[in-house]
Amino acid sequence: MTDRSNELTAWDRDHFFHPSTHMAAHARGDTPTRVITGGEGVYIVDRDGKRSLDAFAGLYCVNVGYGRREIADAIAEQAGKLAYYHAYVGHGTEASVTLSKMIIDRAPTGMSRVYFGLSGSDANETNIKLVWYYNNVLGRPEKKKIISRWRGYHGSGVMTGSLTGLELFHKAFDLPRPPILHTEAPYFFRRADRSMSEEQFSQHCADKLEEMILAEGPDTVAAFIGEPVLGTGGIVPPPAGYWEKIQAVLTKYDVLLIADEVVTGFGRLGSMFGSDHYGMKPDLITIAKGLTSAYAPLSGTIVSETMWRVLEKGSDMMGPIGHGWTYSAHPICAAAGVANLALIDEMGLVDNARETGAYFRAALTEALAGHRLVGEVRGEGLMAAVEFVEDKDDRRFFPAEAKVGPRLSAAMLERGVISRAMPQGDILGFAPPLCLTREEADKVVAAALGAVKAVAAEL
Ligand SMILES: Cc1ncc(COP(=O)(O)O)c(C=O)c1O
Repeated sequence: MTDRSNELTAWDRDHFFHPSTHMAAHARGDTPTRVITGGEGVYIVDRDGKRSLDAFAGLYCVNVGYGRREIADAIAEQAGKLAYYHAYVGHGTEASVTLSKMIIDRAPTGMSRVYFGLSGSDANETNIKLVWYYNNVLGRPEKKKIISRWRGYHGSGVMTGSLTGLELFHKAFDLPRPPILHTEAPYFFRRADRSMSEEQFSQHCADKLEEMILAEGPDTVAAFIGEPVLGTGGIVPPPAGYWEKIQAVLTKYDVLLIADEVVTGFGRLGSMFGSDHYGMKPDLITIAKGLTSAYAPLSGTIVSETMWRVLEKGSDMMGPIGHGWTYSAHPICAAAGVANLALIDEMGLVDNARETGAYFRAALTEALAGHRLVGEVRGEGLMAAVEFVEDKDDRRFFPAEAKVGPRLSAAMLERGVISRAMPQGDILGFAPPLCLTREEADKVVAAALGAVKAVAAEL
């Protein structure tokens, strides 16, 4: 290693508090520091010149791929012209106003306004506040509980970490906090009663939700939040009929639906939005990642026209809404968003996610489904997962200490491909940039097969 690399490694260990990292192991130097210096298309390059095919698009966010000049130029131009002005009391920039129109043009029917934030977490924080505000305006101060799902991921703030249904994000943080509740995950492969069909399991999930609403009292339940496809919780598409059955329960008890489309928004499933893909009728939609393909931090809450009418009334009753971030609708981020959404259209990435996604998942299934350790290969569009089991017939899972998932993703990295060991279970996740080609998909599948064979030989 060069002196400069040694210096960076030392500074990193001594001063950089990394998110989602084993703090002690990293500070000790037991885990490597990887300094990323560049990227092009689906590839990233590190300081040592190692090139990797990023089959997780960063954190499923670099949807247009790395190194797109169009977005970099739009950012530079905006920074040169006007790096910042706020969006309070009716201010905007050409970029932020244009972006709100572009989002609504692409959003499911019935959506009418966008509130901009910076991260998926803060957008969900906004959603919670809007749901509470809405019910206060309607004179229903008791209707405040929000139901999320075990294995859902909605952020890691205090309230959004509570919405998240993964133990790792709760333990030692005193989460989850009320009034957040969790219901059953729509995880067909892990259903307790294996005799259930997909439709029966969907009905079971809807029944569980209804039971919870009735037990809590419908007058106290304000909203339900869900990702169209469970993401960090294991990349799990919903079982057949799930959203239709859930939607019916929500309508029956006047419970709002928040579709968290931080991952699925802007094409990942092969449709512009997951809500359209599954026929969901959300009142609020959370967007982030794919909105700028992570070229700049930007998120949003898309509000339905029906909900907006009530929120508007709130201002007539109480004055301006007391909610805002300094960087809401930041012009540089908005300029990145405008260029990114235009590029998604120009490159035909929504269609590519559907077509190359289908090719990739079929190839992954063909290569791996028959392996003795592979319990399931699943996915939708360009989101896929392979779940590993110790015993296929008994559906027996490996103990967490065996770290089968992390070992598999490390073995893939050795073969030049980045995948993600999902946090709860031995699940290898894939969510490559939406510009993935069939040749690149073949490389990912070959690396996955090599990694599975290598790790299986050690087990
Ligand atoms: C579905 C979903 N919602 C919310 C978030 C939180 O977004 P952020 O990490 O930008 O706060 C994520 C992040 O992965 C996510 O996957």
